[in-house]
Amino acid sequence: MISHAAYFLTFTLDLIVYRCVRVACCSRLRFMWFTLMFLTVLCVALQMLGVVRQARLIIVKSQADNTVMCQPKKHIVFLKTHKTASSTILNILYRYGESHNLTFALPLNMHSQLFYPAFFAAHFVEGVRTRSVKEFHVLCNHMRFSSQEVRKVMPKDAFYFSILRNPVAMMESLFVYYKAIPAFRAVKSLEEFLIQGGRSYNASVPNNHYARNILTFDFGLDNTAPENDTELDRRSAEVIAAMERDFPLILISEYFDESLVLLKHALCWSLDDVSSFRLNSRSERSRRPLSAEIADRVKEWNSLDWRLYQHFNATFWKRIDSTLGRTKLQQEVELLRAKRRNLEQMCLQEGGAVDPAQVQDSSLKPFQYGAAVIQGYNLRLELNNDTRQLCQRLITPELQYTSALYTKQFPQLAAARAAAAKKIAASRNTATHRAVNQLHKNWTKSCLSARAAQVWIN
Ligand SMILES: *[C@@H]1O[C@H](CO)[C@@H](O)[C@H](O)[C@H]1NC(C)=O
Ligand SMILES: *[C@@H]1O[C@H](CO)[C@@H](O)[C@H](O)[C@H]1NC(C)=O
Ligand SMILES: *[C@@H]1O[C@H](CO)[C@@H](O)[C@H](O)[C@H]1NC(C)=O
Ligand SMILES: *[C@@H]1O[C@H](CO)[C@@H](O)[C@H](O)[C@H]1NC(C)=O
Ligand SMILES: *[C@@H]1O[C@H](CO)[C@@H](O)[C@H](O)[C@H]1NC(C)=O
Ligand SMILES: *[C@@H]1O[C@H](CO)[C@@H](O)[C@H](O)[C@H]1NC(C)=O
Repeated sequence: MISHAAYFLTFTLDLIVYRCVRVACCSRLRFMWFTLMFLTVLCVALQMLGVVRQARLIIVKSQADNTVMCQPKKHIVFLKTHKTASSTILNILYRYGESHNLTFALPLNMHSQLFYPAFFAAHFVEGVRTRSVKEFHVLCNHMRFSSQEVRKVMPKDAFYFSILRNPVAMMESLFVYYKAIPAFRAVKSLEEFLIQGGRSYNASVPNNHYARNILTFDFGLDNTAPENDTELDRRSAEVIAAMERDFPLILISEYFDESLVLLKHALCWSLDDVSSFRLNSRSERSRRPLSAEIADRVKEWNSLDWRLYQHFNATFWKRIDSTLGRTKLQQEVELLRAKRRNLEQMCLQEGGAVDPAQVQDSSLKPFQYGAAVIQGYNLRLELNNDTRQLCQRLITPELQYTSALYTKQFPQLAAARAAAAKKIAASRNTATHRAVNQLHKNWTKSCLSARAAQVWIN
């Protein structure tokens, strides 16, 4: 706007000079021309002032009320961490993306994860190698973060965020879920594992990364335990600095609803956009509180994660105090909870989560793994089509939703995969049954060694 006005001013001045030259020839009209020139200059100057004032007004207004003036963010990177309620955030991103026609950076070949625990690489994303996708909006599946590779896929203005959970509760959860990993296999309980000083843990054995400083690991950083306090100070400061450089927002699982409100503001979305049911959640039956002594051992064992959790918990609350304030936060949290209760009443037969055995639609059963009991939902029967679609999206488990989005985004690739799967199923019933089985076994074996934990989902 200002450059427009400046252009107009130069143009007017040119005109005035031209007129002056002509006027000089005719001294009787000189006075009149000078008056006209003065008025023109005055007029232009006033106009410019007006433009500047207006521009300033817009800026001031946008600072005062960012919910009205901000633009909803559509380029998003979510680093999905393990056992942190991140599946619920994934569902929020999937639903928003699906209803706004956004493109997801999904794992190659319909995998459920971006080849975790290998470091992320751009070509793990379907459509990158073939260049069949012009623009990716959302990247949110499990990966081991690599800033450099992510930036090759995602637009420059992408908003990065992630979520942390208290390492004490997290480790109890990880132990139950990943009981089959080498570090945990040999022990009966988490208590036993810790009291033995983690004797069964060998950092260089595949899949043991789940057992120590997994948050640090997921952020793509060195998760080996520091040997002494000096080392811990130095390494944790490095981890925190690296995370702060790449992630302007870190949410906290213990304050999940507060986190959703912060996320809503950071993305310039609405409360409806972040309303959700808890997904991939364990039933209370398989939860066990840890004693204070064991909790201290967990903090010591995961010393890096414990440091970064404390740091980001503190910055989380600082951010709230310096932006929304606690009163406004509490109001929005209450509104969010009311919205969730309404959705539960509208969508769910039992009004809440049920055990997997009670999930009637088998296509909506959540994936079960380890000793954890992952709960699911039943939809009410009498919903109209629009409501049913909304409700169905709210309760669709991660794996099913990921395949559905893949199928929508890459219909031909999905059809080819389905045809191949059908062929394999058919050949199972023929004489080649054993050979195919053997081939499949060999494939699984090589996959396991090459990609380590790709089979461990979430
Ligand atoms: C998404 O795409 C569909 C079909 O192309 C279109 O009808 C709809 O308006 C689009 N929605 C948005 C939010 O752009
Ligand atoms: C840990 O595992 C590596 C690789 O499997 C092995 O070479 C090493 O001996 C193991 N260390 C211990 C202390 O068992
Ligand atoms: C702490 O550990 C580091 C590396 O593991 C070592 O270089 C340093 O000397 C140790 N410091 C003390 C005080 O033991
Ligand atoms: C996280 O921050 C809150 C608010 O300051 C505090 O009450 C809580 O104790 C903190 N949690 C941990 C584990 O430090
Ligand atoms: C609702 O969906 C069913 C099946 O998908 C379809 O047959 C029916 O016409 C839809 N009804 C309305 C009112 O759109
Ligand atoms: C599977 O691997 C075994 C040896 O590891 C080999 O003898 C066999 O031929 C392989 N089977 C197929 C179908 O590739």
